[in-house]
Amino acid sequence: MEIIIVDGAEEGARVVADRFEQVLRETGGKATLGLATGSSPVAAYRELIRRHREEGLSFAGTRAFLLDEYVGLAPEAPQSYHRFIRENLTRDIDIDDAAISSPRGEAADPVAEAARYDASIREAGGVDLQILGIGSDGHIGFNEPTSSLSSRTRVKTLTPQTVEDNARFFDSPDDVPRHVLTQGIGTILEARAIVLTASGENKARAVAEMVEGPISARWPATALQLHPRVVVVLDPAAASQLELADYYRYVQDNKRGPVA
Ligand code: F6R
Repeated sequence: MEIIIVDGAEEGARVVADRFEQVLRETGGKATLGLATGSSPVAAYRELIRRHREEGLSFAGTRAFLLDEYVGLAPEAPQSYHRFIRENLTRDIDIDDAAISSPRGEAADPVAEAARYDASIREAGGVDLQILGIGSDGHIGFNEPTSSLSSRTRVKTLTPQTVEDNARFFDSPDDVPRHVLTQGIGTILEARAIVLTASGENKARAVAEMVEGPISARWPATALQLHPRVVVVLDPAAASQLELADYYRYVQDNKRGPVA
């Protein structure tokens, strides 16, 4: 893992946006992007919108897959993740609406929908760059603690902690759906590159477990230790429980180019 501790949100957004630019360069503009919702990537999405408007960064040849969706919510529902990504990124860049895929939360058979969605990612040739946030309980996507580390897209039950964490997007905690369709950890690990971004004290324990803890389903993000191309972008608060923080800073200060 490459650990980058930034001074604050603006610098973090630039570092994450640079990864998007890199994958667009590497794929000749034809990248398949894996998009997360929630607060963590929003600053980076704003920076991508700025680069699109001011610097001509184009997403015209890309396609995108969302990580997850609430069971029961149709794409146009106000709190659906499909709508979230449109309002926070895709309506302001030049990606075709038809090129954005998400699990269909309102599907009559969510189990079949999960299998269909998983297969559709593979059929599209897989994800070139996946952006991730992390839950305070260590989830990625909505793979809550004790999720299989080789799981595929499926229905999961949110923990009470995640319901509480996400209640800010709803009128009341009672309105937060208890079930989600989420890419599995095995699905996420197939992305060719991953950038995870986290900020704030409430992510510090999960970040420390992810980077320095033993690989364990207790902290699902620890599975990222098995992936060869993961960049973790942290603000000082999210990095505050890392035992080797000084080493990660030293590595960044002594970078010699694209080496591990
Ligand atoms: C969202 C997702 C989740 C969030 C995580 C952190 O698509 O898959 O794993 O990334 O719950 O949420 P925020 O960023 O709101 O703290």
